Amino acid sequence: MATEFIPFSRRGNSNWRLINPPNTATTMPPVIIFNPFILLSLFLLISSTVATTISAPDYNNTYCPGNTTFAHNSSYQTNLNSVLTSLSSNSTTQSGFYNTSAGDGGASTVYGIFLCRGDVKEEVCADCVAMAMNDVLVKCPNRKQAVIWYDECMIRYSNASFLGELDSDYVFFVWNLHNITNNVTGFTTVLSDTMNKIAATAAKGQPGKKFATAEANFNSSLTLYTLAQCTPDLSSIDCSTCLKDCTDRLPQCCNGRQGGRVVYPSCNIRYEITRFYNIENAAPPPPAPVTQPVAAPPPPAIAKKIAISAPIVVALVLLIIVGICLLNRKGKKTKLDTIEDTENDSEDFISVESLQYDLSILQVATNNFSDDNKIGEGGFGAVYKGMLSNGQEIAVKRLRKSSAQGVDEFKNEVVLLVKLQHRNLVRLLGFCLTGDEKLLVYEFVPNKSLDYFLFDSEKQRLIDWPQRYKIIQGIARGMLYLHEDSRLKIIHRDLKASNVLLDNFMNPKISDFGMARIFGVDQSQANTKRIVGTCGYMSPEYVMHGLFSVKSDVYSFGILVLEIICGKRISDFYQSNVENLVDHAWMQWRNEAPLEFMDPTLRNSYSSDEVIRCIQIGLLCVQNDVNERPNMASIVLLLNSYSTPISRPQQPFFFPPSKIITSLMSNQSTSKSMPSSINEVSITETEPR
Ligand SMILES: *[C@@H]1O[C@H](CO)[C@@H](O)[C@H](O)[C@H]1NC(C)=O
Ligand SMILES: *[C@@H]1O[C@H](CO)[C@@H](O)[C@H](O)[C@H]1NC(C)=O
Ligand SMILES: *[C@@H]1O[C@H](CO)[C@@H](O)[C@H](O)[C@H]1NC(C)=O
Ligand SMILES: *[C@@H]1O[C@H](CO)[C@@H](O)[C@H](O)[C@H]1NC(C)=O
Repeated sequence: MATEFIPFSRRGNSNWRLINPPNTATTMPPVIIFNPFILLSLFLLISSTVATTISAPDYNNTYCPGNTTFAHNSSYQTNLNSVLTSLSSNSTTQSGFYNTSAGDGGASTVYGIFLCRGDVKEEVCADCVAMAMNDVLVKCPNRKQAVIWYDECMIRYSNASFLGELDSDYVFFVWNLHNITNNVTGFTTVLSDTMNKIAATAAKGQPGKKFATAEANFNSSLTLYTLAQCTPDLSSIDCSTCLKDCTDRLPQCCNGRQGGRVVYPSCNIRYEITRFYNIENAAPPPPAPVTQPVAAPPPPAIAKKIAISAPIVVALVLLIIVGICLLNRKGKKTKLDTIEDTENDSEDFISVESLQYDLSILQVATNNFSDDNKIGEGGFGAVYKGMLSNGQEIAVKRLRKSSAQGVDEFKNEVVLLVKLQHRNLVRLLGFCLTGDEKLLVYEFVPNKSLDYFLFDSEKQRLIDWPQRYKIIQGIARGMLYLHEDSRLKIIHRDLKASNVLLDNFMNPKISDFGMARIFGVDQSQANTKRIVGTCGYMSPEYVMHGLFSVKSDVYSFGILVLEIICGKRISDFYQSNVENLVDHAWMQWRNEAPLEFMDPTLRNSYSSDEVIRCIQIGLLCVQNDVNERPNMASIVLLLNSYSTPISRPQQPFFFPPSKIITSLMSNQSTSKSMPSSINEVSITETEPR
C-alpha cells in the first residue's frame, strides 16, 4: 500500500495542527502523519488551568473520499445542513454517539454520525462536534462524503448509509516524535499485549459504547496508557476485527515511539506514555500513582488532555510540568522561551506584509465601498461586505479618520489580533494602510448579528431556547478567551447584541474586539478619558468614572444575557415608563417568578433550570460592586455544569439613561453632536486635553 508523508503547518496560532492531506481522490492510500509537539500548547495549558473547558478541540485529519460534489442550493446541501445541525444539537444529550439522516431515502439522502472519544465530558464533546460541523464543510467543500477527526471527536457523513458497516478503505497514522530510549522490544511486547486486552474489552462493549482504556506499568518509571474505540454501531466481531487490524499496523508507524495512533473511520487505537484520557469517565479502576519521567517533558498535545482529568492528578502533573518548565528556563533556551519572548520565532512569526491587502483589491472587492455593500456602521467606522477574486467573502471595516494610532502601533496591534483565533470570535484576516485609509479585513460571517433575530417579533421565534443557550455559552467562551488568553488580555469594551454575529449554524462570533487597541486607546490604563461603549451596556463605574476592567465586560455580558432571555433591547425600556430591563429582571426574581421575565416565544422550548440559572448569572454580572460580579471563567463553568453552586444576587441599581447622558455631557464638554437617539449607538469621544 502506498504511504504518504504529510508536511505540517506551524504558522500563526494553530502551530501544532496538521494541514489537510492532499486529495486522495481515486486510490485512497493510507496517510501517515507527524504529530509534532510544540511547547506552546504546554504554555497555553498552564495559563488556562482555571477553565479547562476552553481548550479548543485538537484537529487531526480529514478524509474527503471520491470526487463527487453536490451542487450549491441542491437538496443534498439542504439535507446535509440538517444532518449536521441535528448532530450538533444532539451532542449534549446523547452518550457520545449519534446517528441521523435527512432526506426521503432517495439520491439526495444524507447519513451522518458523530462519535466522541469515550472518556470526554458532554460539554467537551459538544464543543468538538460544533467545531467539526463547521470545519468539515470548509475542508471538504461540497463533498458528498467526508470524515473529520479531532482528538476528542469525529464526524462522518455520506450519501450512502454506512451504519453497522466496517469501513477499512482508509487509515491514517499519527505518532509521537519522541522515542523509547531502551528495551524497545520489551516495550513493544507489553504494548501489543495491552492492546489485545483492551480490544477485547472494547469489542464486548458497554451498552451504546465500544470503548476501553488500560494502563500497564512497563517499569518503575514508565507507564503505558492505551485506548481503543469502535463506533458503537459495529457488531462485536467487526469491532474486534477492526481493532486487531489497527494493532497489527502499529509497527508501520510507531515502532519505538513514545506514542502512536492508528485511525479508521470505524475504529481507532492510541497509546502514549502519559495519560491522555480522562480517568473519571474511563472504565478501568484507578492506577498506581504515576511516576513521571523527569527527563523529557510530556508532549503538550497530550498534556492538554490532562487538564480535564481528576483535579488531584491535574495538580500533581501540573506541578511537575511547571517544575520542568522552570528547570528548562534556567538551563539552555528552550522552545518555550523562544515562542514566549520572541514573537518572530520562524515558526510563529506572522509577517506584517503577509497581512497587508492592497487598497485597489479591497476597492474592487467592495464595489468601491458602495452603499449597497455596506452591512453595518459601528463606533469605529462602516463595514462593507466584499468578495475577493478567488471567491472568498470578506467584511471590510473602514476606520474613521480620527484614529489616534500611529502606523507602527497600528500594525503591531493588527498582528497581535490576527493571532487571536477562537471559534467564537470573528477572525481578523489583515489590514490595509494607504494614505489616510485604515481598513481592517475580517472573515465574513453569513447570518447577520444577534440583534437582527433577537429583537424582531417574527425572527425571534427562529431562535429557540436551546439555540439561545448555545449562543450564551459561545459568547461566554469567546469572552473568556479574550480575557485570559496568554498572549494578551483584551477588554472588549463594547459587547452588545449587534457585536455578536451568527454563522450558518447560529454559532455566535464576537466582533469588534480589540478596537480600542487598534484605535489607540491605552489598555494598560485602568482609567480612561475616552469612553468607548454603548449606552445601557456600560457598567456604572465605567460611565461615571471611566474606570474599566474585565468586570466592565462582565457587566455588558450580563445585560446581553438578560436581553437574550427576555427578547427585548435594553433601550426598549427607555421609551416606556415601565421599570428598566435590570429592575424588571430583579423584580421577577425577587418575587420568585423568574420565568415571567422570559420571552414568551420560548414557551415551547425552554428548560426552566437553564433559564433561571441564566437570569441568576445575568443578575450577578450587573451587580454594582465590581467584586460581586463573577469573572468569565466562573461564568463559563456555571453555564457548563449545573452542579456548580451559584451565589445569590443582590439588588442591582440600574442607572437610568438620563443620568448616563448627563454624565457623558459633563465628562465630555466638547462632544460632537450627541446622537439624537441613544439606542444602539456606540459612543467614541475624546475629552479635550
Ligand atoms: C440559492 O437559493 C437562494 C434562495 O432560494 C437564492 O437567493 C440564491 O440566489 C441561490 N443561489 C444560487 C447560487 O443559486
Ligand atoms: C453516492 O454517490 C456516489 C457518487 O455520486 C454514487 O456512485 C453512489 O451510487 C451513491 N450512493 C448512493 C447510495 O446513492
Ligand atoms: C526516533 O527514531 C527514529 C527512527 O528510529 C529517528 O528517525 C528519529 O530521529 C528518532 N527521534 C528522536 C527524537 O530521537
Ligand atoms: C440510529 O438512529 C435510529 C433513529 O434515529 C435509531 O433507531 C437507531 O437505534 C440508531 N442506531 C444506532 C446504532 O444508534
